[in-house]
Amino acid sequence: MVVAIDGPAGAGKSSVARAVARALGFTYLNSGSMYRAVGLLTLRDGGAASEHAEKLDIELGDRVLVNGEDVTETLREPEVSEAASRVATNDRVRSALADKQRELLGDGDWVVEGRDIGTVVAPGAPVKIFLTASPEERARRRAAELGTDVDTVLRDQALRDAQDEGRAHSPLRMAPGAVSLDTTGVTLDDVVQRIVGLVHEAS
Ligand code: CDP
Repeated sequence: MVVAIDGPAGAGKSSVARAVARALGFTYLNSGSMYRAVGLLTLRDGGAASEHAEKLDIELGDRVLVNGEDVTETLREPEVSEAASRVATNDRVRSALADKQRELLGDGDWVVEGRDIGTVVAPGAPVKIFLTASPEERARRRAAELGTDVDTVLRDQALRDAQDEGRAHSPLRMAPGAVSLDTTGVTLDDVVQRIVGLVHEAS
């Protein structure tokens, strides 16, 4: 089965999705890594983002390899985040990556995080979560992770939120039937327990 976890940057998707996958023994998939990889390749090599997406050679695990190169840390750099959000507005990029994701999810049990998993990639997922938190809380978490100041993160975050919510193709939206969880001031453990409970109810 598929557990779909969508939401904006800094809502806690990665920590929550990883912990839920571990608790259930499911495989974790971060769909954002694919957009980041296409953003990185487009920044570095130029050319059409859609071609990079269609030919994407990526290995996803504890480390992320693109064309055999370990790019795990590079993918988290602010310029790559911005490039990812930009290439994610391209519908050819989106359909190439959504196809790759559906192919993976066809087999086995998964916890997948992203922006459009519950709406586009796996609308039939039995458990769909929309994770949110206040903009200030999201920026604080991201700033702590990156070691930068909260104001810069808040500015970049607002730009990315606007791009993700405003794009014509698969904008960030809560999927029909999704459960909305606000993680502001809630411990990771509590959020994980809540989702694990929903998965048990659904199976
Ligand atoms: O970790 P964070 O939430 O900041 O970002 P991410 O999940 O790694 O995704 C990076 C960017 O890829 C996002 O800002 C989105 O623009 C895009 N993305 C998307 O459009 N659809 C997805 N399923 C996943 C990511």
